[in-house]
Amino acid sequence: MSIMEMLKQPSFALPEKYRKLETKEMEEKVRAIKRQLGDSLFIPGHHYQRDEVIQFADAVGDSLQLAQISARNKKAKNIVFCGVHFMAETADILTTAEQTVILPDMRAGCSMADMADIYQTETAWKELQGLFGDTMLPLTYVNSTAAIKAFVGRNGGATVTSSNAHEMVKWAFGKKERILFLPDQHLGRNTAFDLGVDLGEMAVWNPINNELEYEGDLSKVKVILWKGHCSVHENFIVQNIEYVRRTYPDMKIIVHPECTHEVVGLSDDNGSTKYIIEKIEEAEPGSAWAIGTEMNLVNRLIQQHSDKHIISLNPNMCPCLTMNRIDLPHLLWSLDTIIEGNEGNVIKVDEQTAHEAVLALDRMLNR
Ligand code: 13P
Ligand code: SF4
Repeated sequence: MSIMEMLKQPSFALPEKYRKLETKEMEEKVRAIKRQLGDSLFIPGHHYQRDEVIQFADAVGDSLQLAQISARNKKAKNIVFCGVHFMAETADILTTAEQTVILPDMRAGCSMADMADIYQTETAWKELQGLFGDTMLPLTYVNSTAAIKAFVGRNGGATVTSSNAHEMVKWAFGKKERILFLPDQHLGRNTAFDLGVDLGEMAVWNPINNELEYEGDLSKVKVILWKGHCSVHENFIVQNIEYVRRTYPDMKIIVHPECTHEVVGLSDDNGSTKYIIEKIEEAEPGSAWAIGTEMNLVNRLIQQHSDKHIISLNPNMCPCLTMNRIDLPHLLWSLDTIIEGNEGNVIKVDEQTAHEAVLALDRMLNR
């Protein structure tokens, strides 16, 4: 069954009754279920989640923090993951067989993770080995499917997040001459550039045409970037920066490294979700900031820091539509399925994939 067919199954669609409930009623029900389930329930939430959901999270973090928290939590029988599909898969891989990971809405995928499937990756690896022999180590951003993490794990590589990408790229260069960086070309390019790799030493693997985009002497290639991107962060463009510079000359611009190299280069600072939050927290009252990252987080920072002038770098704001699919009705529905003992939207990575994926995750987490 294809994912589309699966999602059309009535069991994956939010039952109609949840659409008729008032917000207050849903909030009270969620609170009551949380009280009833106590420590046997754990709700991690990514910073990009809606406020209506994040208010119920037991832990809020970026991708790295949520992976670490999932690996540590051995108590909760049910983990209701408020984030996107690859994060829930990671949580399932890092938790015990007795723990169940539930994603409140199965449609909460990640367009970037979907840009590298395992068949494309295996094909690319074969082609690239033909060109570069045994000189490459694969690294994958955690924003990738469990199958890609398993591929990376069995080929000696590791996962990375935007919080530790520099450290992990350095680690990889200590092992091999070249890196294949999946699936976000921008995080890969921005990180390698910061570490002194010239743009001319980076090639791009195009998984649609099955070809390496590079002009020049192949022996100079140090990084092969998978041609994937985040559809949210690519919406921050050079014109947004120019507008802010013209309109607010004293404003600092800080962006996520999933933005393009041009945007990162023209900004004052860049870093992971956690880094951006910390920078804003540490900033002087009265300082002015344009932030290039997901809308829910930027709105939250605007609310929490009324002593600072904060705007989104893109005035039309950029929500992550798949993160936004997790809303209060879906959260309540998933909690109800636990109480009723029904099969919810369980995320289960098969044993072989999990076994290999954990190698890649552990190489990152145990450093
Ligand atoms: P981080 O949580 O690593 O900053 O990543 C942002 C993101 O796009 C998550 O999908
Ligand atoms: Fe994926 Fe981008 Fe959304 Fe993160 S913000 S979940 S990378 S689409």
